[in-house]
Amino acid sequence: MPALTYVATPHALQWQRITPVFCDVDPGTQNLDPREVEALITPRTTAIIGVHLWGRPCEVEQLTDLAARFGLKLLFDAAHAFACSAGGRFIGNFGVAETFSFNATKFLNTFEGGAVVTNDDALAHRIRLMSSLGFIEDDQVVSLGMNGKMNEVAAAMGLTGLESLEEFVSANRRNYYLYRSGLEGAPGLKLLAYDEAERSNYQYIVLEIEREVGIRRDAQCCRSRTPENTRSVASAGRRSKRPADQRTAHRAQGVACW
Ligand SMILES: Cc1ncc(COP(=O)(O)O)c(C=O)c1O
Repeated sequence: MPALTYVATPHALQWQRITPVFCDVDPGTQNLDPREVEALITPRTTAIIGVHLWGRPCEVEQLTDLAARFGLKLLFDAAHAFACSAGGRFIGNFGVAETFSFNATKFLNTFEGGAVVTNDDALAHRIRLMSSLGFIEDDQVVSLGMNGKMNEVAAAMGLTGLESLEEFVSANRRNYYLYRSGLEGAPGLKLLAYDEAERSNYQYIVLEIEREVGIRRDAQCCRSRTPENTRSVASAGRRSKRPADQRTAHRAQGVACW
């Protein structure tokens, strides 16, 4: 998994007693670098997890080939990538499964919650059973489960969001272009670009702040009262021993684009 992500990604593995192996990201995209992934594969490797950081798709095709070549499962943390595409196909269609977050800071908001998305019917059935205490009928329990059901108020919030999806995209896109034109030519500041050939939710404005600006990324966050959560995505990367992650994590500041 990429060393530059939110703590939730490694925690998901550690709850299953799976050891996360952190992999360098490509500093240009801030996503998993497939060449680095290949170099880290050992006989103990069981799966690859890509993260579509900031809603920008990772190298889905290359990671799919790699997983097939080494007989590994492929999963994606798509917490940021609702309504985004990769190679013209909506995210949610790749790997064994992808997970979306509907936390209040995300593009689609149900206050808290999320979704596991898969094209594998058997897996979908298993996940549905798991999330409703194994109930297959009102009075029949067929497997071990937990209560992961969404409540009605949260669902209503999500449905309202779905109705306004295109409006949210255009407002975010407008803001992104406003920042882009305002920051054009500013020395030491680089805005991470969205690929106009793909569908994007434009939820994050990601700035890389170079040393010559004379203020460090964290000090800038305090000055602009940027909420802590805009920085914490990069926190795993800052503790990484891998050079590209550390560099990127210290420079990147993602601001949710509301
Ligand atoms: C990359 C990433 N993965 C996973 C999560 C966890 O999502 P949730 O808060 O819905 O559990 C987040 C939340 O911020 C995230 O940014």
